Amino acid sequence: MRAILATMMSLLLAACASTREPRLYDALGGEAGIAKLVDALVAEYHADAKIGFLFSETDDAYFKARLREQLCLVSDGGCDYTGLSMAEAHSGMDLSEAQFNDFVDASRRAMTRAGFPIGVQNRLLARLAPMRGEVIHQ
Ligand code: HEM
Repeated sequence: MRAILATMMSLLLAACASTREPRLYDALGGEAGIAKLVDALVAEYHADAKIGFLFSETDDAYFKARLREQLCLVSDGGCDYTGLSMAEAHSGMDLSEAQFNDFVDASRRAMTRAGFPIGVQNRLLARLAPMRGEVIHQ
């Protein structure tokens, strides 16, 4: 009886493990997927009619490298983020809530164009949303 119970428990645990969502980092395609995502994001921010002007002086190589680190970190890929804090990075810009929403819209467009499924987009945006307070009105 005990052996049967133990077998049932391990079958249940195996079923749980196999239906669990993949780590977000893996769902994004790991290092290569995040590099592709960051290229798409930065292209979309530059092209955006409303927020594009904010990136006119941006050093894209530096910005992309920091974004790759940050997206790897927030998606549980275990990277170190070596850039400025969110408050420091956006200080002096006095970004509004509307600009934050424009940034999210541009991010969604970029992710859709780059082929990321809506569920993966939602998971990533849900992890970035809590940073909103450190980004706006700085
Ligand atoms: C959760 C949302 C956001 C994240 C995770 C994020 C991430 C970053 C990162 C990692 C940097 C570079 C930090 C460094 O210099 O070391 C940065 C800079 C910057 N971000 Fe954001 N950002 C967010 C929201 C926004 C929004 C809403 C806007 C504008 C609408 C924006 C515009 C900029 C600009 C213009 C820079 C400076 C680029 C430069 O150095 O020229 N960001 N951001």
